[in-house]
Amino acid sequence: TVPLTIAIDGPAAAGKGTLAKRVASHYQLPYLDTGLLYRAVGRQVAKAGVDPDDAEAAGAVARDLDVGHLTDPTLRGHEAGELASRIAVHAPVREALVRFQRTFAASPEGAVLDGRDIGTVICPNARVKIFVTASAEVRARRRTDELVSHGRTDIDYARILAEVKSRDARDAGRTMAPLKPAEDAHLLDTSELDIASAFRAACAIVDRVL
Ligand code: C5P
Repeated sequence: TVPLTIAIDGPAAAGKGTLAKRVASHYQLPYLDTGLLYRAVGRQVAKAGVDPDDAEAAGAVARDLDVGHLTDPTLRGHEAGELASRIAVHAPVREALVRFQRTFAASPEGAVLDGRDIGTVICPNARVKIFVTASAEVRARRRTDELVSHGRTDIDYARILAEVKSRDARDAGRTMAPLKPAEDAHLLDTSELDIASAFRAACAIVDRVL
């Protein structure tokens, strides 16, 4: 049997992570959240006092990254995401992370990876590619609710919306592996879908190729 590699890409806060995790567990496949790699590099860059806009220095940090240590829950936070998107524009950073992702994707049964460039760069031959979107307003609303539910009181929807938009612009506007759907990706707009409906829609896409 051909391994089932599923690439799930999309902008920040579109719900890719939740969806990818559920899809992986449904098809009993290993799952990699590739955003965590960039988040961990960003964190390490900050810790080491490296300038996040220095491509070479950030690349050196990425090459030294201990990929076994991606469990720190604060890596998932909003601030870590901002820093991740700053260091993710650098070619040396992206190149340093390719091999780990491709090795993960090559596991014999298949794998689910989520990120920005899985279908376009990391796994161009993935059997299923899903590009998850939602309007910036919906994503900002979800992100705001999530932060508030985690007890944050300093959160303002308008500011989150501005950040979502600026992250989109940075991720889609960069030269290296910009955020965009692969030509053969299935678009899944979750603006009007709850998690259960988005999950059903994703499974319907996967089941068509099985
Ligand atoms: O998906 P997540 O929000 O965790 O990603 C954080 C940042 O890491 C993104 O905004 C993007 O700039 C970068 N990233 C990337 N390529 C990936 C995954 C994440 O450039 N495959």
